[in-house]
Amino acid sequence: MDFMLTEQQQMMKKLFAEFAEKDVKPLAAEVDEDERFPRENVEKMRECKMLGIPFPREYGGAGADYLSYILAVEELSKKCATTGVVLSAHTSLGTWPIFAFGTEEQKNKYLPDLCTGKKLAAFGLTEPNAGTDAAGQQTTAVKDGDDYILNGTKIFITNAGEADVYVIFAMTDKSKGTHGISAFIVEKGMPGFTVGQHEKKLGIRGSATSELIFNNVRLTKDHLLGQEGKGFKIAMQTLDGGRIGIAAQALGIAQGAIDEVVPYVKSRKQFGRSIAKFQNTQFQLADMQTKTDAARLLVYQAAMAKENGQPYTYLAAEAKLFAAEVAMEVTTKAIQLMGGYGYTRDYPVERMFRDAKITEIYEGTSEVQRMVISGQMLK
Ligand code: CAA
Repeated sequence: MDFMLTEQQQMMKKLFAEFAEKDVKPLAAEVDEDERFPRENVEKMRECKMLGIPFPREYGGAGADYLSYILAVEELSKKCATTGVVLSAHTSLGTWPIFAFGTEEQKNKYLPDLCTGKKLAAFGLTEPNAGTDAAGQQTTAVKDGDDYILNGTKIFITNAGEADVYVIFAMTDKSKGTHGISAFIVEKGMPGFTVGQHEKKLGIRGSATSELIFNNVRLTKDHLLGQEGKGFKIAMQTLDGGRIGIAAQALGIAQGAIDEVVPYVKSRKQFGRSIAKFQNTQFQLADMQTKTDAARLLVYQAAMAKENGQPYTYLAAEAKLFAAEVAMEVTTKAIQLMGGYGYTRDYPVERMFRDAKITEIYEGTSEVQRMVISGQMLK
């Protein structure tokens, strides 16, 4: 593994960092406070061609590699984890399965609008009774001639209501278990498809998280994504890539908190000197940065494995598990170093602490990542 970013990746990282500083950071507190979807950030990302980074130019993408996309999620999440997950859910959960499993007709129909950011994408797997046990799908897609009739409810869907294109999983044959699950492309505005309750959350409060309700939604067969019965594998493979995105979000949150705390400890004086002069501060900072740098290596390694066509299920799970736990630890320590000030909304670290928690939960909890990692080890 080459541990160095290429010149092009370094250049893109710098551009993403400048964009995050100039355009994303100024809105981060407001988006959190008002629990408001950052539509203007999506618009700006569209202008900067950030909504199709790892997809080929022939479909409207930027033609860059997966690591470049991961760098974008990391840089955005340093300033605003909400904006980081909007990009991650759109790219790796919503758009990628259409690119990887779609027919040429489906790719030509959906990808140009998604990759250029004219439309936003989302992914609907989770249900009230199918969270960690993703195979327990109760949404059904029943054959009616050549069509399918979709019925059921999805919950906790990122970009819900804001997205135009949804990759949805449903049972087409309950008797076959995971082999009876199929994937479909569902479009906003289809008769019978509505967005339900909007969740109020601890963190990533600007991200739209809502229910999707399907009431006799008629889907013609060109909405089936991949083969019938292959939906569970499509979901798992999509989540393998998505987990690298969430790992990058966690990494960004951790580094963002460190970037806030370093200038603070240098300027804050107690007992007549800067608190950066105390050994406790120095040791805490050293641990925070070391763990964050270790997380970065795991995240970049997983992204490079995916890009190079190597197995990455295990590497993605390791990256997400480690980066999420580091994000929690680092943001907790950042608040502790900043004391009462860190606990207030005058500084962004309390938001980063709240935002970090979800990275241990969505796209597979830390326990699920441990199941995936140990499953691979014990194979
Ligand atoms: N790639 C390809 N195939 C895979 C796979 C992978 N990563 N993981 C499993 N499979 C295949 C298996 O090989 C098996 O295939 P066969 O039957 O042909 O042998 C099949 O899928 C079933 O596998 P398991 O028996 O391992 O499945 P399981 O029911 O025991 O589930 C699990 C395993 C790891 C717990 C899985 O259910 C899981 O990942 N759960 C968590 C779900 C999750 O991450 N949800 C998040 C939803 S998205 C979100 O968070 C919101 C958002 O919008 C951001």
